[in-house]
Amino acid sequence: MDNINNNETNRQYEYIDKLKEKVAELSESKGRQLTYNVTTFGCQMNARDSEKLRGILEQVGYVSTEDENADFCLYNTCTVRENANNKVYGRLGVLYSYKKRNPDMIIALCGCMMQEEVVINKIKESYNFVDLIFGTHNIFKFAELLYNTLISHGQIIDIWEDTDKIVEKLPTSRKYSFKSGINIMFGCNNFCSYCIVPYVRGRERSRQPDEIIDEITSLVADGVKEIMLLGQNVNSYGKGLNEDINFAKLLRRIEGIDGLKRIRFMTSHPKDLSDELIDVMASSSKICNHLHLPLQSGSTDILAKMNRHYTKEDYLALVDRIRAKVPDIALTTDIIVGFPGESEEDFLETMDVVKKVSFDSAFTFIYSKRTGTPAAAMDNQVPEDVIKDRFDRLLTVVQDIGRKQYDKLVGSTHSVLVENVNEKDSTLMSGRLTNNAIVHFPGDKSLIGDIVNVTLNECKGFYYIGTINE
Ligand code: SAH
Ligand code: SF4
Ligand code: F3S
Repeated sequence: MDNINNNETNRQYEYIDKLKEKVAELSESKGRQLTYNVTTFGCQMNARDSEKLRGILEQVGYVSTEDENADFCLYNTCTVRENANNKVYGRLGVLYSYKKRNPDMIIALCGCMMQEEVVINKIKESYNFVDLIFGTHNIFKFAELLYNTLISHGQIIDIWEDTDKIVEKLPTSRKYSFKSGINIMFGCNNFCSYCIVPYVRGRERSRQPDEIIDEITSLVADGVKEIMLLGQNVNSYGKGLNEDINFAKLLRRIEGIDGLKRIRFMTSHPKDLSDELIDVMASSSKICNHLHLPLQSGSTDILAKMNRHYTKEDYLALVDRIRAKVPDIALTTDIIVGFPGESEEDFLETMDVVKKVSFDSAFTFIYSKRTGTPAAAMDNQVPEDVIKDRFDRLLTVVQDIGRKQYDKLVGSTHSVLVENVNEKDSTLMSGRLTNNAIVHFPGDKSLIGDIVNVTLNECKGFYYIGTINE
């Protein structure tokens, strides 16, 4: 089965042409170029989606501005935790004040939050100044939707429940010239009981390997040295495709792309991480020395309630298998504190795994109840003060261990991809080791995008200060 919809790509290019004319006409009547601002909330998938939206905006003649007081302002939203939603509502009020002064301003919302009915109802009721609302499944229709918004009045809302198609080859505008995210799959079928992502991103669909290889090859030709393969569960890549392919095989093919220097990927679900993948990681000269392996909880009971399909022992054994073949790999993780029914003993199991694995760093989250997920209906929601206490204890341990892991590398020299001028001190450049740690070192901006050797002189917690090795 071919899941690519080429007709749709052509249709959208027709809208891109129409938009170009419309935007040129509007710029002429205003006597200046139209500006756009896109704000991204949430994960790397959303960041990549925003690059696609920017690509279209730039192709049709909008120019980027840092200021949200722009002719076109878009929030690409996240709904993984409640606080992500609240941020958006808060900021919409500010946009409204801009729009009162510039009635031609177009305010648009897209992304995961828009896939929730309660959100759409709330926007219809209380935020009728928002001009365009679309979701995660029809993001490829952006050119068409924006065109319709520019030629009509009133709110346009277009949300799809799901899709089985992938629309390829639309324009993108990359944030960095030297690195890029690449979707290898969309959606998620795992239904972890706390998580809203499968409901707002739909069923898992993998891109055709040839499309992925073509995209990376042209990115490399355009100066990209490092890629990040993106999916909610990259380890199940390839399911449902006709071709005999899995994630490990895809990585082998990507490794063969000349000129590509570094390969990263996220996220890996522990239940699907194969020995074949570990072997590919061990033998690769391009796959970075870092694995993000979300633990979520160290308690086997809680893991079962989370629908994660592994036990504490499975996770620890997996870490051992990985370290046996890739001894110095940096491991990072995600942990949720306060899942319904989490007892002090359960929490101590999580602390135990953190200590046994010695993660380089961990994202720690307070459990957030998401309407419609199985966990939201579970008994024994943990009281806030108990969660707060556990969260603080966990954070202290995570930071202590992370710091010790970081300290181990002081004095050694590593290859570093130079990313930007340091935000606080313009005499320093900032770059990343393959283990994803950041180092700041004296240098100038001509180095941006280069891979250089840097000696790590000092560890400052979660970054290093270093010197470049000529
Ligand atoms: N697909 C990835 C994670 C996507 S969401 C994976 O399976 O690992 C990123 C992280 O947000 C998750 O790993 C989890 O730790 C956290 N998260 C998801 N839903 C949450 C919720 N309801 N409350 C708190 N944290 C949550
Ligand atoms: Fe959410 Fe689980 Fe899917 Fe990750 S694997 S996106 S945590 S349901
Ligand atoms: Fe958020 Fe959607 Fe990503 S809910 S974490 S932006 S997939």
